[in-house]
Amino acid sequence: MASTSSSIAIIGAGSVGAAIAHSLLLRRVVGDILLVDVDQERCRAQVLDLSDASYLSHVRVKQGSYAEASQADIVIITAGAKQNPGETRLDLIDRNHKILKSILESMAPLRADGILLLVANPVDALTHFAQQLSGLPRNQVIGSGTLLDSLRLRAKLAEKLKVADIAVNAYVLGEHGDSQFIAWSAATVSGAPLSSLLHLSDEDRTAIATSTKTKAYDIIELKGFTSFGISAATTSICEAIIYDQRQILPLSHWQEQLQCCLSLPVILGRSGVISTINLSLNENESKLILKSAESLREVITK
Ligand code: 2OP
Repeated sequence: MASTSSSIAIIGAGSVGAAIAHSLLLRRVVGDILLVDVDQERCRAQVLDLSDASYLSHVRVKQGSYAEASQADIVIITAGAKQNPGETRLDLIDRNHKILKSILESMAPLRADGILLLVANPVDALTHFAQQLSGLPRNQVIGSGTLLDSLRLRAKLAEKLKVADIAVNAYVLGEHGDSQFIAWSAATVSGAPLSSLLHLSDEDRTAIATSTKTKAYDIIELKGFTSFGISAATTSICEAIIYDQRQILPLSHWQEQLQCCLSLPVILGRSGVISTINLSLNENESKLILKSAESLREVITK
C-alpha cells in the first residue's frame, strides 16, 4: 500500500530520475511523486510518459518547482553531469558540486524533518557537500553509497551458491567508486560464514571484487549510463525511510572518526541514519576503510 500522505521529490528528470520515479510508482512507496528539472520540456515529457504507467498504482506524478520539492518527505538528487565512458565518478566533482549548490540554494529552506538523499556522483563527496549546504542535521542527509555495489556482489555470490540473493549478507564498503572494498570477513549466508559454504581462492576474490567494481563502467561503455540498478536500490532506501523500517543498509553517511562521508551499514528509518553498525573487520579490511576515507578526504578538501 502506498503511504498516500507522503511525497517524494526527484531533482533531475534524466534517465536515472525517471527510472527512480517509475520504480517508486510501481512499488507504491508514496502517494505523490514530484519531478523537477531545469529542462522543463524534458521534465514535462517524463511526467506525461510516467502518467501512462500510473494506472497500475494510482500514484500521482507531477512536475513541480524547487519550492514544492523542498516540502517533500524525501528529496532525491539525481541531477548532474553523468560519467562518460572512461571517466571515474570522482572526475565529475567540480561540475556536480556547482549544480548541487545551486539546487540547494533554490530549495532553501528544506522541510525540517525532510530527508535529503544523494544519488548523483561522486555520491560520497556530494553527500558531504550537501550536509554542509542544506541546513539539515547530518543524519538526515545520506547518499545511496555502496548499496548498489553490495547488491551486485550479493547477486554474484548467490549465483555461485545457488541460493536467493536475499539469503546473502555481504557488504561492499567505503567509497561508491574505485577505492571500495568487500568486507569478506563479515560475509554470511543466512547466519553461516560465507567461507564455510563457498571456497574462494584469493584469485576468485580479486575477480569478484573487480567485476563488482567495474560493472558500472561496463554498462556505461555499452549504453552510456546506468539506471535500473540505482533505481531499485534507491527505492529500497525510500521504503525504509517512509515506513520507518529500520533496515540495515550500506549507505554513505558522515563518519566523525574518518572526517568524511562513506558507506558502512546503518540502521535507516524515518529520521534518517539512526546509527552505524560496527562490523568486526579484519586487519586488512580496517586498513582499506582508512585508505578509502583518505582518498575521499583528498577530494572534499581540495
Ligand atoms: C552505478 O554504479 C554509475 O554510480 C552508478 O551504476
